[in-house]
Amino acid sequence: MQRAVRVGLIGFGTIGTGVVKLLKKNREQIRERVGVPVDLVRIADIDTKRDRGVRLAKGVLVGDARKVLDDPSIDIVIELMGGTGLARRFVLEAIKANKDVVTANKALLAHHGDEIFGAVERAGVEIGYEASVGGGIPIIRTLRESLGGDRHHALFGIVNGTTNYILSKMSNQGGEFADVLAEAQADGLAEADPSFDVDGVDAAHKLTLLVELAFGCRFRFADVPSEGIRRVTQDDIAFAREFGYALKHLAVAVRHKDGIEARVHPAMVPQQHPLARVDGALNAIVVDSEALESSMYVGLGAGMMPTATAVVGDLMEIACNRLHGCRGRVAPLGLPTAKLRKLATLPASRAIGTYYMRLQVLDRPGELAKISGALGRAGISIASMLQQPAKRRGSVTLVMRTHEASQRSLDRAVSAIEKLQAVRGKVVVIRIEENL
Ligand code: HSE
Repeated sequence: MQRAVRVGLIGFGTIGTGVVKLLKKNREQIRERVGVPVDLVRIADIDTKRDRGVRLAKGVLVGDARKVLDDPSIDIVIELMGGTGLARRFVLEAIKANKDVVTANKALLAHHGDEIFGAVERAGVEIGYEASVGGGIPIIRTLRESLGGDRHHALFGIVNGTTNYILSKMSNQGGEFADVLAEAQADGLAEADPSFDVDGVDAAHKLTLLVELAFGCRFRFADVPSEGIRRVTQDDIAFAREFGYALKHLAVAVRHKDGIEARVHPAMVPQQHPLARVDGALNAIVVDSEALESSMYVGLGAGMMPTATAVVGDLMEIACNRLHGCRGRVAPLGLPTAKLRKLATLPASRAIGTYYMRLQVLDRPGELAKISGALGRAGISIASMLQQPAKRRGSVTLVMRTHEASQRSLDRAVSAIEKLQAVRGKVVVIRIEENL
């Protein structure tokens, strides 16, 4: 039997530092559980000077990833460098060299999952990517293995910690998006370039993986319509509260008979739903299944130590599989690539929902009739309405909730309403998730 499992890490940033800390602190516990020590023998990063607050033996930290990839004594490569260019190349090289891979890189897997998972399967190696969705929450293993004998109807949740932190702070303490984002950046809680997080791209990457795992299919990142939280205002948060909702950024996927509906956007969630109380940097994913029914997974979706936990868990599982001669025990997406279904992706325009609309209208007779006329012509019925004097003189803020309508009908109505002479600016539309 192998006397130790040897690990190389590429990318020594925040999560990498957490991995080093956890492997050191719990070294004995990890050795007991795996059966042999899990040794981090090399770390490659372009920055070999910065003090990360962890002590490393001489020669462990190197500036060249080749020293990890070309070392035949390294069994498992952890990729934490991020991005989809070099990271893709390195991961494919590691697989080709018969090494197992652990990664937290959802962008890489959302864009190149087909290629990478296929290569893993052909090479008979393993890939662990628990850290790619929900930080420390074990949602990948749950969908891939624990719930593998059930069928899932839908999954939805909060999968971006930065966005949830900003929306929670806007809701609980006030402040508009730009100011709260700037504060979060100053506190190190949002990236200097926050666009992947606040524009919904990160959530769409994660949803792509969750859809593949939950529904056993191939799914394309490009097929997820995504919208971020830049346009959310205090007005919308206040009106949501008045109507009995919390404003959250959701990733949603529903398995219909004829295909999959997937989307990422801000949404109003009933205040009594458990998701409405998931605040701060927490993530939460709800899975609706046939046998298990509804289950919810909550925890810290970002940050050094939570994410490092997921990486170390993957390392330990892969180390055990190696030692017991069962590498490739479970396919990357839970079932062999050849068995993945090809399910249709339903166009966003077909999605049915109820909606919140906020618009600015000149305060004069007959305007409301024109607006409700435009909705009526698109077959949309109004469920409730509020009118408030606006900050600007002569106009009012009109807030409406619709009954169920298709996105296509709603788009038609909105475009007609925005053409009305009395309507000022754009209509704000936010989906209400009444039936979560
Ligand atoms: N940037 C992500 C978030 C964490 O804010 O949730 C990594 O997936």
